[in-house]
Amino acid sequence: MGHRITTLLLLVGITFAAIALVPRVRGLRMPGNFQGFEPQQPIAYSHRLHAGELAIDCQYCHAGAERSRHAGIPAASVCMNCHRLVTASRSTVRAEELAAEAEGRPATRVIAPELAKLYSALGLGDDLEPDADRASQPIAWARIHQLPDFAVFDHRPHVGADVECQRCHGPIETMERVRQVESLSMGWCLDCHRDPAGAGLGVGATPASIDCVACHY
Ligand code: HEC
Ligand code: HEC
Ligand code: HEC
Ligand code: HEC
Ligand code: HEC
Repeated sequence: MGHRITTLLLLVGITFAAIALVPRVRGLRMPGNFQGFEPQQPIAYSHRLHAGELAIDCQYCHAGAERSRHAGIPAASVCMNCHRLVTASRSTVRAEELAAEAEGRPATRVIAPELAKLYSALGLGDDLEPDADRASQPIAWARIHQLPDFAVFDHRPHVGADVECQRCHGPIETMERVRQVESLSMGWCLDCHRDPAGAGLGVGATPASIDCVACHY
């Protein structure tokens, strides 16, 4: 009995919300709007370098986007696929080689300060081998894009419909530090769902769901 009343009240609430909101969602901004949010990260990881200049595929690091709700942030072990060998930029390594040659000594390994943070998070010593005195701990990346709990976003249907990452996240491959480009407001979701062709998804794009329960459950 109590459950039914709760359900009924919820339905009434949703109906009122629908009447009140739907015609106005376009201009609506929530107090928690994080458009432009660009937090400092624990390691100065650059998408401009990795996804831009080095052209590493987004899904090499964010493979979750295709198979789960969340795109996911790569584990430090993914970074180590390259950074076990690459310990500093090529120009820094080259400069050390030239200096060593001029001074008639063997070149030493250069470790860029930002990569030293990666090695330390993995509990590695200066020789890049596990160091018993250093505990490994996950890198505390600051979360940037985040919807409130009452709205659900799933990457899968979007990746499946060939909506490009950049459509919703902006030109990530040009960013030294990731910034939230879009508002992520309900009006923003609905604009594209109602008229995906207008949102630039190509003339054949079929409208996506605008049912409340598609995104609120
Ligand atoms: C080599 C690994 C790597 C590649 C390649 C990569 N990313 Fe990332 N991405 C990360 C890491 C690490 C973070 C967390 C730190 C940060 O925000 O910069 C991140 C963060 C993000 C975020 C912000 C997550 C949040 O908290 O909201 C988005 C969006 C994103 N990446 C999209 C992309 C897109 C789009 C591409 C391809 C153009 C891409 N990434 C390529 C490693 C990668
Ligand atoms: C596919 C290879 C690859 C992967 C994977 C990769 N990197 Fe890199 N990264 C590079 C290369 C190559 C450079 C050096 C580019 C240059 O010469 O300037 C670099 C440079 C860097 C630098 C700059 C170092 C400096 O000189 O200051 C940082 C920091 C960095 N990477 C962090 C990361 C992190 C964190 C991850 C994992 C999320 C990661 N990288 C994953 C290839 C990779
Ligand atoms: C239709 C819009 C849209 C597209 C396309 C999209 N994203 Fe997202 N992305 C979002 C939204 C919205 C969030 C916040 C989700 C939440 O809070 O649950 C998000 C969150 C993220 C995050 C951080 C949280 C997580 O899910 O792990 C990463 C990383 C990310 N996206 C990467 C990508 C990559 C890479 C692609 C392309 C393969 C992509 N996104 C495509 C809208 C999109
Ligand atoms: C740039 C366009 C675009 C934006 C922005 C966008 N979507 Fe979508 N969405 C799509 C497309 C295209 C589909 C796939 C429709 C299909 O498979 O026919 C989809 C599918 C979905 C689905 C699965 C239901 C369905 O109709 O297939 C959900 C749930 C969803 N989106 C939620 C969201 C949420 C939540 C946001 C905002 C945070 C959002 N979307 C933003 C284009 C977009
Ligand atoms: C395509 C996805 C989607 C659909 C469909 C959708 N919503 Fe939302 N809704 C969202 C997102 C995302 C937010 C969070 C927006 C924010 O954080 O600013 C939201 C927020 C809300 C809020 C809080 C106030 C606001 O506007 O931010 C209410 C109330 C709401 N939705 C009701 C509804 C009702 C009622 C329906 C059906 C008529 C509906 N929603 C359909 C995605 C959707």
